[in-house]
Amino acid sequence: MFNVNAMLDENITITEIESWLRQENAAELEKLWAAADRVRRENVGDEVHLRGLIEISNYCVRSCAYCGLRKENKQLDRYRMSAEEVIECAHKAHKLGYGTVVMQAGEDYGIRAQWLADIIKTIKNELPLAVTLSMGERPQEDLCLWRKAGADRYLLRFETSDLKLYKLIHPDLANKTSDRFAILKFLRELGYEVGGGVMIGIPGQSCASLANDIDMFRKCDFDMIGSGPFIPNLLTPLGTGELKPDIAPADQVPATELMCYKVVALARIVCPQANIPSTTALATLNKETGRELGLSRGANVVMPNCTPLKYRVKYEIYPGKACINETAEQCQMCLAGRIYSIARTIGKGQGGRIRTRINAD
Ligand code: 5AD
Ligand code: FES
Repeated sequence: MFNVNAMLDENITITEIESWLRQENAAELEKLWAAADRVRRENVGDEVHLRGLIEISNYCVRSCAYCGLRKENKQLDRYRMSAEEVIECAHKAHKLGYGTVVMQAGEDYGIRAQWLADIIKTIKNELPLAVTLSMGERPQEDLCLWRKAGADRYLLRFETSDLKLYKLIHPDLANKTSDRFAILKFLRELGYEVGGGVMIGIPGQSCASLANDIDMFRKCDFDMIGSGPFIPNLLTPLGTGELKPDIAPADQVPATELMCYKVVALARIVCPQANIPSTTALATLNKETGRELGLSRGANVVMPNCTPLKYRVKYEIYPGKACINETAEQCQMCLAGRIYSIARTIGKGQGGRIRTRINAD
């Protein structure tokens, strides 16, 4: 047997990552949780940063086989918030004590680049907030314009590093190959803090490829790493099983809560200083304690939803989403209680990527 402790640092090998992903023994897994929690505490401390999420539009030009916003889904009632509504939400996020707003949408070219740039400028002028964008694979000039307008961070999950699977579940747009790693590199060059991430348990995803995803977190040195379970959406080909990637059952990553904690913990271990959310998709699998367990096993961020309720129900990427009917105020109260219940504190300020250990002892 190798020394278990020797494996649990930044230099963990891909093979060791994969064996943790396959580990089922509860006593062994306790070591993984403890290591991730220690690395989290030593590197980013006990603060949990809250990011107010504003889902500004559910239009999308893409055809992702897993996502309810895909353009082929005619059953979804589409909306796009007005600039005034978005700015009002940002003010609400600030009032609730959040240091960041995350503006997310489908890949919606009805969101004109200049329109969003003006919103970013207004928010940056009126409020002391960090602005994070999650707008999909927009052209370079848009990403550039938004950075100049003051956007601080950009989230773009690469979903899976298995390029064959990626192509299958994420069709290209006409005559343009989707290369999210290239976009993430470009975002970094523009000076954004950059967030990548994956879905866990995508049909066709193997433990070996998920281990490689985690190695990519390390290689890309992401500032933020988002992950969550694949949740079947019956209005999508991957959700109904109409699209069925070929894989040996023994290799398939299960889309379980346990697997999600392993990914959060391993992400923390390979990227000690990254901001890592305990995601809504994870809370969807376990509404009672999912958020807290994520935070206790490596995560240090939560993204409470600030989207007006009438729009939020329409942002249906997958069904059964946690917090779908809770107001922003209710989520804020609920999360504060959950954070204090595990002896953590609510982060102050913008909570950007730190590059020094804050609590080495
Ligand atoms: N289940 C879980 N997560 C999903 N996402 C999209 N569709 C699903 C689904 N069916 C995630 C993707 C995307 C993010 C915005 O939501 O990882 O990047
Ligand atoms: Fe939304 Fe608990 S976080 S209700």
